[in-house]
Amino acid sequence: MEKQKIYEELLQEIHAVLEGENETIARMSTVCAILKRGLPWASWVGFYRRIGPEILAVGPYQGDLGCLRIPFDRGVCGAAARTGITQIAPDVHAFQGHIACDATVRSEIVVPVRDLSGELIAVLDLDSRLPAAFDEIDRHYLEELANEIAAGARS
Ligand code: SME
Repeated sequence: MEKQKIYEELLQEIHAVLEGENETIARMSTVCAILKRGLPWASWVGFYRRIGPEILAVGPYQGDLGCLRIPFDRGVCGAAARTGITQIAPDVHAFQGHIACDATVRSEIVVPVRDLSGELIAVLDLDSRLPAAFDEIDRHYLEELANEIAAGARS
C-alpha cells in the first residue's frame, strides 16, 4: 500500500478511537500504539513532553527503551522543541548532537506538538532502522496528527 493511503487510514482510525477522549496521556498513548502497528518503517514511536522551560521527558511510547530526558539544546528532539519546526534527519549520524538511544537507528523525524494556545507541550518522535525513511509525506500527516492531539487535549 502506498504511504499516503497508509496514513489516511491510520489518521481515520486515530480520529475515530480518540473521539470523546480529552485526556492528553490517553490520547498520546493511543496514537503511539496505532502508529507503531501501522507504520512498518518506524522502529520507535513516542512523545517527549515538555516538563520545564527547556527540558523534555519521555512520555508514552512504543519500542525499545528511550532516553528519559532531553534538554532543548540536544538531539533531534531538542532541535524540534527549540525551533518549533519539524526536523527530518535522513541520516542521524550526520545530525549535529543526535542522541543515540538505539545504535541501530538510521533516520528520524520529530514533530512539535502544541496546545490550542500555541504553546509547545511535546514532540512526537519516530525512528527508523532504514536510512532516509521519513520524507515530506510523513511530515504532512504527522503534523496533521500533532494538531489533532492538541485539538482534543484538555488536561
Ligand atoms: N534520537 C533522539 C533521542 C530520542 S530517541 O531516539 C528515542 C534525538 O536525537 O533527539
